[in-house]
Amino acid sequence: MCPARPARTRSFARSGLTVPWNDAQESLLELAEACDVPVRWSCRTGVCHTCELALMSGTVAYSPDPVEPPAEGNILICCSKPSGGIVLDL
Ligand code: FES
Repeated sequence: MCPARPARTRSFARSGLTVPWNDAQESLLELAEACDVPVRWSCRTGVCHTCELALMSGTVAYSPDPVEPPAEGNILICCSKPSGGIVLDL
């Protein structure tokens, strides 16, 4: 379920959504899915890079760490959580 309570917000730029982060969510991929934002994924463990997309602002923390880091300026949303306010190209 997409969270409705205002808190630390995360924005999906192309979708025009700004939503709060809930620490109970495992990843940014889970948040996007809960908000019905179309996302691509395969392994969900930081291996395949199918979920790689541009981080327009902010920083994320990985858990687990990706096997190979994403390209400069990109993140893997399946294994990352926001470290503060972020904007994703999504
Ligand atoms: S879905 Fe495979 S790295 Fe994210």
